[in-house]
Amino acid sequence: MTRDEILSELTRLQPWFHRIDLGGGLYTKTESVMGEPVDHPFGPWQTIQRLLPKDLSGKTLLDIGCNAGFYAFEAKRRGAKRVLGVDGQRQHVRQGLFVRKVLGLDVEFRRLNVYELNPRTVGQFDITLALGLLYHLKHPILALENLYQVTKELLVIETAIMPPRQTPKSFVYSFGSAKTVLHPLAYVENPPDAKEQVFNWFLPGVDALTALLRNTGFAEVELVEIKDDRAAVVCRKAKGETSTHDTLKHFVAQLKLEEELHACRASSELTFRVRVENIGLARWTAAGEAHGGKGAVSLGSHLLQADEEEVDWDYGRARLPRDLEPGETANIEFKVRAPETPGTYIVEFDMVAEHVTWFEDYGSQTLRHELVVE
Ligand SMILES: C[S@@+](CC[C@H](N)C(=O)[O-])C[C@H]1O[C@@H](n2cnc3c(N)ncnc32)[C@H](O)[C@@H]1O
Repeated sequence: MTRDEILSELTRLQPWFHRIDLGGGLYTKTESVMGEPVDHPFGPWQTIQRLLPKDLSGKTLLDIGCNAGFYAFEAKRRGAKRVLGVDGQRQHVRQGLFVRKVLGLDVEFRRLNVYELNPRTVGQFDITLALGLLYHLKHPILALENLYQVTKELLVIETAIMPPRQTPKSFVYSFGSAKTVLHPLAYVENPPDAKEQVFNWFLPGVDALTALLRNTGFAEVELVEIKDDRAAVVCRKAKGETSTHDTLKHFVAQLKLEEELHACRASSELTFRVRVENIGLARWTAAGEAHGGKGAVSLGSHLLQADEEEVDWDYGRARLPRDLEPGETANIEFKVRAPETPGTYIVEFDMVAEHVTWFEDYGSQTLRHELVVE
């Protein structure tokens, strides 16, 4: 691109929040947009670069809320094998793609909301950066759970926090007989029509922030810096073994009936054909751990009346034909006997890890099917 072409694109893609050096004395921005220092993010980069390995060779890195891609390009310069910058606003993806062209660095960009992130939409990355993002979210816990799922090793968070000097102390509180610790978290009141990705919503106190990250599942949560009303935190996942709870929340199924079966005769033999897909991160074993049966994943169902009254909680079982890895599917024949009493029923299919849990208990969607018995 000629200098004039670059200058014209810089104007077309204004306003710029990131000041990125494009070479030849050209920078993406020359003035502050919303009160940030003109050279943003040079200041926070001094902290973030200390938290990243100097050499990122062989590593994959996701930068969520990447804006024009300053950090994503720096990661590529450190040798990262794959860098993906994701931002919820199209304008920033355009900026990132333009800078990529000028710098000639192989960084991918995608417009995606943090709520859409999961291993199926983007895969998993060794390192995830979520800088200047958390306080822009109305659903911070959902977002943190997504960040956990797409991160293999390390998550770096940089965020605005509740101003430490105005943050009440955490304290022990009794919910009935259970004692628990309450950590202050501030809600920012905005006009009802305020745009989510631009406004601020929740400002956690530092203790709330670190507790949230621990509870999301990170094995190590290290508060590395508090500067005024901002904090930087490094979170590491456990290596190798994961806790039982960790595995259970990764049991997620998508169930679909392959053939419609809406009406039947009382007490007749029924065959449902169900397509089951493992859309979580855990492997489903057909035979159970060490083949003892515990944890073996099967398709089960509950028989309910139309008003939700339970008729039979354990309404049939069908075994998996084989182990299912994340992303794999199987077609299962599910045979049961229709109820003796005519009426309208709901057959609610769910996967079950035998003697451990129904998947629904950890948030997986069941498949509800109305059945009229004549
Ligand atoms: C304050 S800027 C921070 C940019 C950059 N990470 C930094 O630290 O300089 C917040 C960025 O997050 C993006 N963002 C806000 N909410 C988002 C969401 N729900 N999903 C994806 N990106 C989001 C915004 O578009 C914006 O680019």
